[in-house]
Amino acid sequence: MSRETVANALKEFGVEREKLIAVMQYVVSKEKWLSEESMKLIASAFNISAAEVYGVASFYSFLDTEPRGKYVIRICRTISCSMDGKDTVLEALQKALGIKTGETTPDNKFTLLETNCIGWCDKGPAMLVNEDVHTYLTPEKVVEIINDYRAR
Ligand code: FES
Repeated sequence: MSRETVANALKEFGVEREKLIAVMQYVVSKEKWLSEESMKLIASAFNISAAEVYGVASFYSFLDTEPRGKYVIRICRTISCSMDGKDTVLEALQKALGIKTGETTPDNKFTLLETNCIGWCDKGPAMLVNEDVHTYLTPEKVVEIINDYRAR
């Protein structure tokens, strides 16, 4: 699957250096993460080292280099959201999911991560579930949100 996905990404974006991140984002959007195989294929196509590809991936928190669940939760840990009660929201998420930050549920449905500011500071605490934005979070509200995704 990696080979085909990377080939499609290269077909769409090409191999100019400024398209590297777009190619990586494409692969993550299709496969949920960048496997070692994907990174090696991308490196070879861009004529750069696999270490350089990994370096770029590890700099951007959205370019995952580990397998993730179907729904990737990224709760903002930056100052506005922290001051608005992010810690209690995170505790509620951990309890509802039965996992700690950085972990994936055994059924591979949810991964829980913290991220830097996602641009919704005036409506915090805020989080993303894949591309969906959730704002004004409370411990009660996140349990409802999780149950909604569970039922899908
Ligand atoms: S500080 Fe949380 S979204 Fe900006």
